[in-house]
Order: sequence, then structure tokens, then C-alpha cells
Amino acid sequence: MENEAKKIILSGIQPTGVFTLGNYLGAVRSWKTMQEQYNCYYFIADLHSLTIHIDPQKRRQQTREAFALLLACGIDTEKSLVFVQSHNKCHAEMGWIMDCCSQFGELSRMTQFKDKSAKHPDNINAGLFTYPALMAGDILLYQADYVPVGADQTQHLEFTRDVATRFNHTYGETFKLPEGYFPKAGARVMSLQDPTSKMSKSDTNPKATISILDDEKTILKKFKSAVTDSEACVRYSEDKPGVSNLMTIYSAVTGKTMAEIEAEFAGKGYGDFKAVVGQAVADELRPIREDFARLMQDRAYLEEEMKKGAEHATYIANKTLTKVKKRVGLLLEK
Ligand code: AMP
Ligand code: TRP
Repeated sequence: MENEAKKIILSGIQPTGVFTLGNYLGAVRSWKTMQEQYNCYYFIADLHSLTIHIDPQKRRQQTREAFALLLACGIDTEKSLVFVQSHNKCHAEMGWIMDCCSQFGELSRMTQFKDKSAKHPDNINAGLFTYPALMAGDILLYQADYVPVGADQTQHLEFTRDVATRFNHTYGETFKLPEGYFPKAGARVMSLQDPTSKMSKSDTNPKATISILDDEKTILKKFKSAVTDSEACVRYSEDKPGVSNLMTIYSAVTGKTMAEIEAEFAGKGYGDFKAVVGQAVADELRPIREDFARLMQDRAYLEEEMKKGAEHATYIANKTLTKVKKRVGLLLEK
């Protein structure tokens, strides 16, 4: 799997629910393409998910599902390293060391911390505050070159670079500085009910989001009720966010350009347009749904893949962790 000449890409995704069409078209689908060109490490960030309350049984289930979903979306364990974060103990250990390299002031400036603590005033736990330090550890342990993240995580990546730079300066060159990776093909998918806001897992209106496990009937129905406008013309324009969003989705799934899509639906109504987009999405997601169902039936296979992933991840991360421990003056066990 490992190829020395290839750059390393690393990303994590929290097990906080089934991926949306937005996660898929905006992120996970390009993770699959990147496997050919890079050494890719993908993990389920279950330790990060502890910062929010989830029923323990549900957390376990969602972790298994997220792992199976990555495989169902085409991440191939022969090509990429896929693992569950807590299965590699280096993350927790490195997280503590990174905590001690992070300043209260800089963590206080993280917008995600401010947003989340404003939203959930009843659970402003210390983990929520030090979350970026754990994330910095995740990235630096693997000496990643590139980290594909959404806009909400770019501040955390910047923070990672700051911590790494400071560490290198204080203790000597140890970490590679990771860069953000923004795949050109990544589409930004908006809510089907409010096309001015991002399609999000946490949306409370089920009609607003397409889960990548929705069946064909559900997908067609949700597209049918998608918000558009009264112009009745399939045209890409900023002042037509609903139609433009559907065009973006259709383009991402079929590879057609906006001009081709406009020509295809010239003179046709929104009813036809929505049905075609819905069908294209349903066709794209069908194999993923079927693969996912098959994988979830095969618990032994999933566990075996998780175990292999954890062993390999631990092997790689432990090299950096040992170096870090030496650097900071922890006495190594003999
Ligand atoms: P999240 O579910 O917010 O943790 O996002 C995980 C990844 O999916 C991030 O890299 C996001 O950029 C991407 N993502 C989430 N929602 C969307 C969306 N509506 N459109 C495009 N990408 C998305
Ligand atoms: N914080 C990321 C999110 O919520 C998940 C994550 C954890 C991550 N560790 C990471 C992403 C390291 C990239 C690299 O989406």
C-alpha cells in the first residue's frame, strides 16, 4: 500500500450520522479518486465525537456504520489506510502532549468552539475546548502533506500549523507542516428546502437533506419537493439558488456542464427537471446503499478490516509519537 514517493493525504470524519449527499459530493467522493494519486489515511474520528452527548450504543453503531460507509463509497483498504481513531492509542497520547503545546488564548479564538458552546450551553466540556489540539495530533502523527477539510475546519488546520511550527522551533525539526487540500471537483451542496444554507447532517427537516442511504422512492420524493422559484426556467444564476443547487448536483453526478444542462432542459418545466435530477442521484447512490447493506451484514469482515487498519495506523503513528516523546523529554520505556 505504502509508496514512498507519494504524498500523504489524511482526513477524519466524525461518526455523527449517515453522510449526506453534501458530504458525498463535497468530500467523500473525491477521497476515492485521491487514492490513486496519494497515500491516503482516512479515519473515523470517534474520540472527537465524545465532545457531544450521544447514546453509547448509538455511538458504537454509528462508528461501525461510518466505517462501512467509507468502504461502500469506494475507499479501498488495499489502497488506503482506513481505521477508527480510538483503536490507535497514539491519538489520545499525542492529544495530551498537543494540549500542553496549545495556548488558552488561541483555543479561545476558535470559532467552532464559540459556535458550539453558544449552541449547547449545557455541555461546554473541556474536550470541546481542546478539540483542535486533538485534531492537530491526528494530523501531525502521520506527517500528512495534505488535509482535505471543509471551510468549517480550516481554522483548525491553521492552528495545527501554528502548533507544529512552534514545536519545531522549540524542540527541533519534528513535524511536516500540513496544507489544506481543496479538490477542484468538490461540489458545495445546499439544503433542498433552504438553498441558501448548506445541506447538513444536523438539519432537523428531513426533506432538506438527502442521506446517501435514502432509497430511490425517498430520493425522488425529496427532489420533487425541493424549493425552486417561479421563473420556470432551468438556468444557473445567483438569484436562483434552488435551481442552481439542483444543477450543481446534477452536474456533479453526471459530469455535464451548466451550459449542457441548460440546453437539455430548455423549454421544459421544473417537474421534469427535478425528476431527472432525482433519478440521476438515485442511480449514483444505489450501489453505495447496496454495498453498505452487504457490509453491515458481515460483522466479521468489518472487524477484521478495522483491526488491520488499527495495526497499520499504530505502526505509522508510533514512529512520530516516539520521536515527540524523546523531544519533550519523556523518559522512554526500555
Ligand atoms: P461534516 O459532516 O460537517 O463533518 O463534514 C464532513 C466533510 O463533508 C467536510 O469536509 C465538509 O466540507 C463536507 N461537507 C459537509 N456538508 C457539505 C455540503 N453540503 N456540501 C459540500 N461538502 C460538504
Ligand atoms: N474535526 C473534523 C470534523 O469535525 C474531523 C477531524 C478530526 C479531522 N481530526 C481530523 C479532519 C484530522 C481532518 C484531519 O469534520
